[in-house]
Amino acid sequence: MRVLVVDVGGTHVKLMHSGSPEARKFDSGDGFTPQQVVAGVNANTADWKYDALTIGIPSPVLRGAVMEEPWNLGTGWVGFDWAAAFGKPVRILNDAAMQALGSDEGGRMLFLGLGSGLGTALVDDGRIVALELAHLPYRDQTFEDLLGQRGLKALGEAEWKKAVLEGAELLRAAVAAEYVVLGGGNVRLFESLPEGVRRGGNDKAFEGGFRAWDQPEIADGATSPLESLKAFAPREHLRELFARDPARAERFFLTVGAHLFIDYSKNLITTDSMTALITLARKTGVEALRDQMFAGAPINSTEQRAVMHVALRNRSKRPMMVDGRDVMPEVRAALDHMRAFSESVRNGTRTGYTGLRITDVVNIGIGGSDLGPAMVAQAMTPYAHDGPRTHFVSNVDGAHLADTLRSLHPATTLFTIASKTFTTQETMANARSAREWFLARAKDQAAIAKHFVAISTNDAEVRKFGIAPENMFVFWDWVGGRYSLWSSIGLPVCLAIGYGHFEQILDGAHEMDEHFRTAPIEQNAPIILGLLGVWYASVLGAASHAVLPYEQHLQRLPAYLQQLEMESNGKRVDRAGHAVVVETSPVVWGEPGTNGQHAFFQLLHQGTRLVSTDFLVGIESHDQLGDHHRLLVANCLAQTEALMRGKTDAEAREELTAQRLSGAAIDELAPHKVFPGNRPSTTIMYRKLGPRSLGMLLALYEHRVFTMGAVWQINSFDQWGVELGKQLAATVAKDLLAAGDTASHDSSTNHLINLAKHRA
Ligand code: F6P
Repeated sequence: MRVLVVDVGGTHVKLMHSGSPEARKFDSGDGFTPQQVVAGVNANTADWKYDALTIGIPSPVLRGAVMEEPWNLGTGWVGFDWAAAFGKPVRILNDAAMQALGSDEGGRMLFLGLGSGLGTALVDDGRIVALELAHLPYRDQTFEDLLGQRGLKALGEAEWKKAVLEGAELLRAAVAAEYVVLGGGNVRLFESLPEGVRRGGNDKAFEGGFRAWDQPEIADGATSPLESLKAFAPREHLRELFARDPARAERFFLTVGAHLFIDYSKNLITTDSMTALITLARKTGVEALRDQMFAGAPINSTEQRAVMHVALRNRSKRPMMVDGRDVMPEVRAALDHMRAFSESVRNGTRTGYTGLRITDVVNIGIGGSDLGPAMVAQAMTPYAHDGPRTHFVSNVDGAHLADTLRSLHPATTLFTIASKTFTTQETMANARSAREWFLARAKDQAAIAKHFVAISTNDAEVRKFGIAPENMFVFWDWVGGRYSLWSSIGLPVCLAIGYGHFEQILDGAHEMDEHFRTAPIEQNAPIILGLLGVWYASVLGAASHAVLPYEQHLQRLPAYLQQLEMESNGKRVDRAGHAVVVETSPVVWGEPGTNGQHAFFQLLHQGTRLVSTDFLVGIESHDQLGDHHRLLVANCLAQTEALMRGKTDAEAREELTAQRLSGAAIDELAPHKVFPGNRPSTTIMYRKLGPRSLGMLLALYEHRVFTMGAVWQINSFDQWGVELGKQLAATVAKDLLAAGDTASHDSSTNHLINLAKHRA
């Protein structure tokens, strides 16, 4: 194949083709565009024959796409369709990567292009791995600040050379390269280079451009730049980091509003790690995506929907626009509907069909139509003394509904059927059975209106089910199921604790939204927690994240967060549909403290796995029972201290000696008594678990999840992964009913279906 190589630089575009060693060039410069490249190439190569092109561009390139406009040229480079413009296949490389490929001598090589900026690339066994190392922190600045032209000017030649060699060694070690090649214009300043460092040359770019087509596939982007962040993990034990830096707790501490405190100093981080993570947030556009969300842009791209749960708790006068329309009037109307209805049930003006007061509310829903309100209703138990009792039925297992109904009376029970789509199999099955149970006793179809209300976006299906429009509470497709607790889905909460308290939950969430929207990244609690989430999941390799509320009423918080985090970020392709090359959502799990301490904390303290943890605790409690709260707080704080400090071999032996054990017994027991420590935790403290602090906490977690998804460039707002199981369940359900044996599945599924049928 005949290849034309186009090397785009800040002052010239250089050209060479497979046919001859002759190079040509034409001028580029400030304001230079891809269209000018095309015109210049065509004008200068009319007499050259080629079948394909390689174009080197001074900008980050991921999977053949330019990710940022080059700082030293014009605009229009991101998204430009080169293949269409030339009518030939084109490979786009970062210019440093192209030089790197040309300088490759086998093995694993780190290439540093010393020019006005700093180009970086890794070539591993002939394959290019895109790397963006230049903006990582180095000596309180960035590598590019010191190793690029600015550094040369500021440091002077001798100091700059030292900085280059030291920085090159640091980066080489971080990416585990066998050798370094220094290229770019400024490499000429080195007369000699130490062992392990070789000299490249600008002319090598052409060779790289030709080689790009020798490879079956260019592997740029196969490894994420996130992996290179590992170099910023602390080398010391947390114990030492605390001992060395008395201000550590202060440095890694955040306050939001008057009542929420976050101590993240017991995480495996240093100031450098945080600088690198904050740089990552900026580079991956977390703030821009956040602003798009608040502006109502359709950031749920696979469903072409806005993501506007923040509008549901917008307590300001600011309009919230979706499709050019302010949605706030509808949001307020829906809230008014909830207020009027919940007040009438709570004060007894709206009764059941016999005139008796409603004493019990059964919410039928699943996933986001269950977990949020169920968790909040439990969390707000201290506020639920003067309303009806709430029950939550979600599982299609008939036991769930049957157990719930056993102690209820139809005349005093209200059903809220909650389903965004109103087609979810489990919810509709439960709703139908609840209606049968009710009618079997009430024996009056008209009584349904007093005992069944719907919460949905789908009025056609709601009508079909037999619920009149006036008994329907609305929400909208721009509210995701797992983000819907702030909408009409919160109706059971209003019924349980009163609309006023529900509004305070919204107030708390709004306060967190404003913080997330406006605080700089360094002080932005959800962004910092999100970055720590990425740090553990994608950089340090933690497969799971434990949420440990030292608050009995937050018992369902881990389950709620499982849906929030794992349904949002359990994704393997990015927004453009390309495979994500790092680990995304961890497995989220947890139980309230102190119970967890007597179950799985053994693994946290002495197991082999890295688990990141959140400890949540209130400074005050609603229950003034003896000494309980002091003991609860003590346990929470002691656990984070123990995880961090651990117990050394010497300390373990000292304790055993004090117990007068023999030397042999000490040798035998000591390894079992050692705690490695250095195990991370974040402590989230709030004044007292009330509606406002709960709202803040939940919005904190929502935006943390948002931040993680934004860094990973995934769509956190769809959930295609739940569809296949739903589809197959419909088929299996039919097969279970059909006569005769089933043979249409794999042998295992057939066998199990037939087993279930014959036992029935
Ligand atoms: O299981 C997937 C899911 O779509 C969740 O995202 C959602 O919260 C749940 O099902 C319930 O959906 P619906 O509210 O439409 O019944």
